[in-house]
Amino acid sequence: MSDVSPAQAPYWQMFEAVSRSVLAAYGYSEIRPPIVERTELFRRSVGEGTDIVEKEMYTFVDRGGESLSLRPECTASCVRAAVEHGWLRSGGVRIWHIGPMFRYERPQKGRYRQFHQLDVEALGFPEPEVDAELILLSARLWKRLGLADIRLEINSLGSRAAQAAYRDRLVAYFEGHRNALDEDSSRRLATNPLRILDSKNPGMQALIEDAPATVDHLDDASAAHFESLKNALKDSGIAFNVNRRLVRGLDYYTGTVFEWVTDELGAQNAVCGGGRYDGLVEEIGGSPAPATGFALGIERLIELLVIQGIEPPATAPHAYLVAVGDRAARAAVRLAENIRDVDSNIRLLVDAGEGSFKSKLKRADRSDARFALIVGDREVDSMTVGVKDLRGDAPQTALPVSELPGYLDARLGDRAAG
Ligand code: HAM
Repeated sequence: MSDVSPAQAPYWQMFEAVSRSVLAAYGYSEIRPPIVERTELFRRSVGEGTDIVEKEMYTFVDRGGESLSLRPECTASCVRAAVEHGWLRSGGVRIWHIGPMFRYERPQKGRYRQFHQLDVEALGFPEPEVDAELILLSARLWKRLGLADIRLEINSLGSRAAQAAYRDRLVAYFEGHRNALDEDSSRRLATNPLRILDSKNPGMQALIEDAPATVDHLDDASAAHFESLKNALKDSGIAFNVNRRLVRGLDYYTGTVFEWVTDELGAQNAVCGGGRYDGLVEEIGGSPAPATGFALGIERLIELLVIQGIEPPATAPHAYLVAVGDRAARAAVRLAENIRDVDSNIRLLVDAGEGSFKSKLKRADRSDARFALIVGDREVDSMTVGVKDLRGDAPQTALPVSELPGYLDARLGDRAAG
């Protein structure tokens, strides 16, 4: 679990601002579910036999004797909220949430125990066009952030009925190779054989590679749905690769699944993943309703922004106010308020601390501010400031406070956007 430092926060802010704008452009609304849910919710949705539920949840019993868990993901909460509040009674809903998720995984690069997701869900829509919409939305996010080289992989897992038939084939296949199964996989053969396919054990990979694939055993409706999605992506100019081995690590998926992957992040190469989960609303207690969605790992995405040299807008102060003399020091806070009154875009730091004029200017320099605003008794009386350029070659000048916004605009470009 890590802290986001002042130096890193602008990346998060940039990601969030771009996400909000893109999500609004597709008509998605924000929701803010709680971080803790009943453990039962995740058992029923993510699935008993998954790594997440078996090994990774932060689960505790509260003072009322109820088993609760820090959410390991957010889809279950979105569906729980939609069912609880009846959001699906008048048709579909398009919702999103940004926040922390918790998984007790082995920490390594790109894999953390507290991490953050942007989660986007479209509940109540059966059409493949809505799966395409989610993929296009994520593609637009990459474009708006300036990210390159993220590839789309898609697959289909088929309906629940097709998955049951496929499960029998898979069990027969793995039973034929019982001796090659590791301990986890032997156990899952009885409980949840599909999860053997996302084993991370390198020794299991050859066996998994040769196992029957879900796309070869689809029901007609899922096959047609998958075809329509592929056509919709082609029509929109979105390149994709059908990855027959893509099964995702959660049990609720039916039909389409997808991941956006990159070669630049090492082993944890998935930036974003999702798919259709047409049975979950009913499993959680709602009237049957189709659903589809995805979640994006924000830490991984920010790592990619850094690797690709994409920088957030500047956050350094525009100005650093230095008071000289006792009266000016007492007036500085009020003067700074006056400046912020006339210039609502300004990022203004007020000097604090002891020291000579020289040491105050040193602090101004270290703040990364472009200008020092120097205030003595004379300036306080006349509501003016001395302006010293700390980075460029603008000559030192004195200005009435009211003229400061125009002066800064002329020298600092579009400050409102920064
Ligand atoms: P997921 O594939 O488990 O799917 O997680 C989505 C993304 O979250 C991953 O692609 C990855 O970028 C990030 N992520 C997952 N675990 C970690 C971790 N330990 N550290 C850092 N990043 C991580 C879901 O969570 C589904 N709820 C997605 C979904 C939404 N499907 C339908 N709707």
